[in-house]
Amino acid sequence: MTRRRRIYEGKAKVLFEGPEPGTLVQYFKDDATAFNNQKKGVITGKGVLNNRISEYLMSRLSEIGVPTHFMRRLNMREQLVREVEIIPIEVVVRNVAAGSLSQRFGIPEGTPLPRSIIEYYYKSDELNDPMVSEEHITAFGWAAPQDLDDMVALSLRVNDYLSGLFLGIGLKLVDFKLEFGRLWENEEMRIVLADEISPDNCRLWDVKTNEKLDKDRFRQDLGRVEEAYQEVARRLGILPEGGPSDVKGPKTIQ
Ligand code: TMP
Ligand code: ASP
Repeated sequence: MTRRRRIYEGKAKVLFEGPEPGTLVQYFKDDATAFNNQKKGVITGKGVLNNRISEYLMSRLSEIGVPTHFMRRLNMREQLVREVEIIPIEVVVRNVAAGSLSQRFGIPEGTPLPRSIIEYYYKSDELNDPMVSEEHITAFGWAAPQDLDDMVALSLRVNDYLSGLFLGIGLKLVDFKLEFGRLWENEEMRIVLADEISPDNCRLWDVKTNEKLDKDRFRQDLGRVEEAYQEVARRLGILPEGGPSDVKGPKTIQ
């Protein structure tokens, strides 16, 4: 087997040099961390499921015109993506109070928010990803005002589309985190969706029972963590019983 050059290793993924210039191979690990690496564990099979879930969601988003770094899935744990210059900002979109928003403002988990709220965090493990404002982002040059406008517009489209998609399979999209990158084509620069979209960076609750089907099961030691990721894939129609050739679209819940 030929060894590939490792470009970057994060907490949940590894990036390798891709087969052509301007491409990378994104490898999904089973490793899970929470609270900025203070809690570490392994969620067996998570990498395989997140690879598929992110492939599915990025492909659907691409079909509605949201530009993404995703090119194609290569195998169980790897996907081919375009090499982008990652903008060091995590964009969090919230529809329902949970997690750090509930803590910060004392709003009970599950309270619907009057409107979708966008927050920004500066990507820095050393600083524990501090929350930042638009002023910080543009003043420190992490993103230009136009980049930020594009990121917000794309985040809201992703929120509208994914909220509907998940509702159709009986899941409430409580909140999620997105990352964006700059993609250079000729002399032109475009902002595209990067990283992954999976139960690692979304909160997904069953519409009827409010059961948590995401990484909060790991963060809060709720048990049945693997099963939660499997259930999301199953509802999306991408966990086929008869093998990968059986893949169907999502089954709408009435
Ligand atoms: P929070 O409530 O902990 O701020 O998280 C908001 C959303 O962002 C939630 O869906 C989990 C996701 N998230 C990440 O993907 N990475 C992170 O480092 C953090 C803190 C949150
Ligand atoms: N991914 C972050 C970490 O590892 C935080 C989280 O998702 O809770 O620390």
